[in-house]
Amino acid sequence: MTNAQATDKHPGELADVPGWFPPLDQILFTWFLERQKAQGMRGDLLELGVYMGKSAILLGHHLQDGERFTVCDLFEGDAPDEANRAESTKSYATLTRQAFERNYLSFHDTLPTVLAAPSSVVPEKVAPDTCRFVHIDASHLYEHVHGDIGAAHDILLPDGIVVLDDFRSEHTPGVSVAAWEAVLNRGLRPICLSTQKLYGTWGDPGPVQEELLDMLRQRPDCGLSVQEAAGHRLVRARSRGMKPPPFPTSRHYVPPASVPAARVTEPRAARPARPAPSRARRLAKDLLPPVVTRAVRRARAKRS
Ligand SMILES: C[S@@+](CC[C@H](N)C(=O)[O-])C[C@H]1O[C@@H](n2cnc3c(N)ncnc32)[C@H](O)[C@@H]1O
Repeated sequence: MTNAQATDKHPGELADVPGWFPPLDQILFTWFLERQKAQGMRGDLLELGVYMGKSAILLGHHLQDGERFTVCDLFEGDAPDEANRAESTKSYATLTRQAFERNYLSFHDTLPTVLAAPSSVVPEKVAPDTCRFVHIDASHLYEHVHGDIGAAHDILLPDGIVVLDDFRSEHTPGVSVAAWEAVLNRGLRPICLSTQKLYGTWGDPGPVQEELLDMLRQRPDCGLSVQEAAGHRLVRARSRGMKPPPFPTSRHYVPPASVPAARVTEPRAARPARPAPSRARRLAKDLLPPVVTRAVRRARAKRS
């Protein structure tokens, strides 16, 4: 978690926003959200755990007219228990709600609905059967993630997509337990696995999985494998040097200064070509002390 230090600067591009949102997941979010739009699916968006706003900014870009985007984060607020407090102090010490809002408003005209609270408040604030996409990326502790998955189940529309972050990271075994428990005992159907995230649905994963496979098979920068486990088809995607998808720059974007024309056009070939140094000269340069080499050069310059 080293790339996520807070800065006071306004971001010019999404890449300037600190966070944990790799190119593969940016591509997958974009694909799922655009597919929903292409299918005419309407519904709200929800993110639990925004940090500085990296994934929220991308999600907000896919909001359609009349849809609502809700985000939930503790920000500087108190965590609901000691383990969650320790996690927040260790990993998100520099986070402020103001920094999130500044980053978000660099890319969008209006803020989402912000719940500055533990994610356990979400079921009271977001109505059942309203969302088409939920990203769970808040606490990494089993009890909290179990609750977040239950909330997502109730809040999602049929065929809505849920994304579980850090479902197999070394430092987040509680998320793994909650994620696979949801698959084995709570009806969640995996669509695909990226390095960091599990994408699933409580609807039928078959059609969306087929379309996703078609898209990913055409990308030479994506490694793919398909496996069966406990009656589930697991599509595993990994990046082979993927670049983030195109994304609009922020209102603070400053294009790189253009290189002065003289420097670009100076014709290298027009300069008088220097003759290649003779073997004797190369040897002398390598073997003689610099003070002797300089004296020889000065003597030559005087002669010419
Ligand atoms: C991994 S970060 C989110 C990263 C973000 N989605 C991104 O794209 O960079 C996790 C966030 O969850 C928040 N968080 C931790 N425990 C929480 C809880 N119990 N309820 C709500 N938010 C929580 C933290 O404050 C932190 O901002």
